[in-house]
Amino acid sequence: MKIIIINGPNLNLLGMRENDIYGDESFNEFFAKLQNKYPQVTLSQYQSNIEGELINKLQEVGYSYDGIILNAAAYTHTSVGIGDTVKAIETPVVEVHISNTFSREEFRHKSFISPNAQGIILGFGLQSYELALQSFLTEK
Ligand code: DQA
Repeated sequence: MKIIIINGPNLNLLGMRENDIYGDESFNEFFAKLQNKYPQVTLSQYQSNIEGELINKLQEVGYSYDGIILNAAAYTHTSVGIGDTVKAIETPVVEVHISNTFSREEFRHKSFISPNAQGIILGFGLQSYELALQSFLTEK
């Protein structure tokens, strides 16, 4: 099973950024543990701060991978382009957020990803990514 985690802007700063909201762990540390825990999954990750690069990556993997775990970060709330890509591609996308975006500012309540996501997991810290991964491993 081939699964990719795609992270949007500022998620490269995890562990150094607003630790009260996003925690102390860097994404690379977390990702290494996840890979060890799920050796049966071919798990990769990609991060970009650039909207068009995220769209390019979604298009690249969106016809051959088994699952995409997408945290589009701030672009979640603004990007018609990423929303359209999620709709266009064939690979199912699970939308993930570290924080509970609904308990935060109102502008974070809108998502251009959600209408076309297979499911949404938010508010569980970095564990949100693991829960998304488990959703792909569970028979539906
Ligand atoms: C986030 C929530 C977004 O509102 C924010 O812009 C982020 C991270 C999260 O994972 O909680 O950068 O997607």
